[in-house]
Amino acid sequence: MSPPIQLTPAGVHITPPPNLTLRGIVAVPGDKSISHRALIFGCLAQGTTTITGILPSADPQSTAQCLRDLGHDITPLTDGEVRVQPGEWQEPQQVLDCGNSGTTMRLLLGLLAGRAGQFFSLTGDDSLRGRPMQRVITPLSQMGAQIWGRKGGTRAPLAVQGQLLQPIAYDSPIASAQVKSAILLAGLGCEGMTQVQEPAPSRDHTERMLRAFGAQITWKNGTVQLQGGAQLRGQTVVVPGDMSSAAFWLVAGAITPGADIMLTNVGVNPSRTGILEVLEAMGARITCHNQRLVAGEPLADIQVQHSALEGVAVGGALIPRLIDEIPILTVAAAFAQGKTVIRDAAELRVKESDRLTAMATQLTRLGARVEEYPDGLTIHGSQQPLVGTELHTYDDHRIAMALAIAALNAQGASYLSPGGCVQISYPQFWQTLQQLCQPSP
Ligand code: S3P
Repeated sequence: MSPPIQLTPAGVHITPPPNLTLRGIVAVPGDKSISHRALIFGCLAQGTTTITGILPSADPQSTAQCLRDLGHDITPLTDGEVRVQPGEWQEPQQVLDCGNSGTTMRLLLGLLAGRAGQFFSLTGDDSLRGRPMQRVITPLSQMGAQIWGRKGGTRAPLAVQGQLLQPIAYDSPIASAQVKSAILLAGLGCEGMTQVQEPAPSRDHTERMLRAFGAQITWKNGTVQLQGGAQLRGQTVVVPGDMSSAAFWLVAGAITPGADIMLTNVGVNPSRTGILEVLEAMGARITCHNQRLVAGEPLADIQVQHSALEGVAVGGALIPRLIDEIPILTVAAAFAQGKTVIRDAAELRVKESDRLTAMATQLTRLGARVEEYPDGLTIHGSQQPLVGTELHTYDDHRIAMALAIAALNAQGASYLSPGGCVQISYPQFWQTLQQLCQPSP
């Protein structure tokens, strides 16, 4: 079998051999959301924080470099142990570069808005400079923050003049962990109680980890409450594997004939397991083994085997629980019998790319029938086999990985570009895909 995946500097050739299947064990890389938070909380705490299993990809590297520029000592990010030694908070001499990472920019805004007397400027790449920042600037301004930016103060580059902030009770119009986390980070330095309510629960890694670091966090009728002023203490953080990265293998295993893949150490925090529930409802053969709790987060080893899938309807409160998995879910839908309807997902239009348009246009290029709405997609699955073609990733890591799984199950070769964007969340993705490709027994 000649290698199905061939990397070039500009893109990736995917040539599915006729007897292909996917088999093997994958140690899924560390959770991106938890990696960012471990670095940030480590800098806020007294004493050293040690992090094992951090995701050493471009997004957490952006957070680490910004925190170094702010005066903290962080050892190079590797799969092994990373040490965070907090220093004096400095007013950086340079612009903080958040790269492609919305989590870095939005969480840092919450963190820096309350550093009275210091000035900060933040920017990012083309994609990040186009993403909406008003959603965090509005509540932070209500707390007393002074933040300026392009396009009427809504887009980076942004400037922050640190102020003494007041706590708020914020009723967020969107279910967003980034918005919630920015407010809680700002609330940490306030006197009194900061509260955040969301229309549906978003991922709760900030709350879990802040609590582990010694903050006073409580929940009342779905509202998160944080008592400001607590001194955080450095911790040992064990980062679980990222469900958002595992999702590519879950779908690849479910749709590829003969596939049998074991994913080890995957985080199964209930605020992240929407994709498991939807794939199971579609008929996927998924088995969770060895469920356990490590450093406050639930983990499992997850096995997926090929099976016939059926279309489903997805929307409402489920959306925040699988927000980053929708691109790969559309691939599962394209290989399922019947139609899959995804609604209430307008947030996808303001991710690293417009992920609804990206998946609709590229699945259509492969031969799938897809309808696009302002807040979702209908995918008419298995109408005819997908046929390999030239695919555009929009330079978005999750679009690239989702399209790769689709292309591997199409007839004939595809060329996908740019392919380097997998560095954002999954640097080993292409190698792991190559290793999993096996001839059918
Ligand atoms: C993230 C929250 C989600 C998610 C993003 C990471 C986080 O964004 O899409 O990839 O780490 O808090 P929103 O909070 O904007 O929904």
